[in-house]
Amino acid sequence: MILVTGATGNVGRGVVDLLLARGLKVRAVTRDPAPGRIPDGAEVVTGDLLTDPAGLDDALDGVDAVFLNAAAFLHGGDGGTPAATFLRLARKRGVGRVVLLTSGTVQADVPADLQANVIGRMHRVVEEAVETSGLGWTLLRPGEFMANSLDWAPQIRAADVVRAPYGDARWAPVHERDIADVAVHVLTTDGHLGTVYELTGPETLTYHERARLIGEAVGRPVRLAEITPDRARSAMIVAGVPAPVADTLLALTATGVDRPEEVSPTVRELTGAPGRTFAQWARENKAAFESRPPRPRDEER
Ligand SMILES: NC(=O)c1ccc[n+]([C@@H]2O[C@H](COP(=O)([O-])OP(=O)(O)OC[C@H]3O[C@@H](n4cnc5c(N)ncnc54)[C@H](OP(=O)(O)O)[C@@H]3O)[C@@H](O)[C@H]2O)c1
Repeated sequence: MILVTGATGNVGRGVVDLLLARGLKVRAVTRDPAPGRIPDGAEVVTGDLLTDPAGLDDALDGVDAVFLNAAAFLHGGDGGTPAATFLRLARKRGVGRVVLLTSGTVQADVPADLQANVIGRMHRVVEEAVETSGLGWTLLRPGEFMANSLDWAPQIRAADVVRAPYGDARWAPVHERDIADVAVHVLTTDGHLGTVYELTGPETLTYHERARLIGEAVGRPVRLAEITPDRARSAMIVAGVPAPVADTLLALTATGVDRPEEVSPTVRELTGAPGRTFAQWARENKAAFESRPPRPRDEER
């Protein structure tokens, strides 16, 4: 039995699907077990890892391996404490290994309290809980997800223009399904304990290029119009992003202008397949960017 947390998330959904497709037993954790949120075939467990990690004790019965998404522990101050509580119970229950989805923002070999930015710190706290849990562990540190471009969907649907800063920054976004492929490989094969895997997509792209590729997928030109970092910061704060997180995200994004991200070979090495391209991701997700049907008033003009 494999316990999947973050089972309704960008990565966890794929992890559940892939494990079920291999005929493995899956128990999926969610705070909201409404119908349709977890694929048929998985056992659904309702629980909250942040506020009541001990409430998941019974869910760990008979579990061999856990896919743990750090997302659950990022809000509410000290995520390390609930993570450690959950992992202690996992050890007591005889869980063999935990695969943690963390973040490429973490600086390697730097303790949590010395991490240079708040995002790295929040993730490193959870990594440290995993590393000191006494369980066999593997850390997955992906860079930027392709799914982040879904944030552009309202702007593209409205006007085919994306307003964003640092349009020339070059990053190698990774497809969520590639992260899920790696996670399932690590959950189901030996030789990965005590290992940290940095994951990227197969190519670096500027944000201008990503906008253009979404345009190709939907069959109409889409462009990025650059805005100042200050304007982007204000928009993020209005959208509810805490100021230190907004500042960190903008500072990280900016570094890709002068220093393109290096492409990691890990997805290919572990899965045997090259990482999926952004063009493929855009085709798969084009429905999110399709224009709304014209309103009656527009048709009358
Ligand atoms: N986006 C990026 O570019 C990027 C890059 C690198 C790393 N990451 C990291 O990847 C993680 C996000 O992964 P994702 O995109 O797959 O997730 P996601 O789509 O953001 O969804 C979050 C998942 O976490 C679960 N969750 C949240 N709070 C929870 C809680 N208190 N108890 C139990 N479950 C909880 C949610 O489950 P329910 O809502 O069903 O309860 C949901 O399945 C984060 O740690 C993020 O920092 C993201």
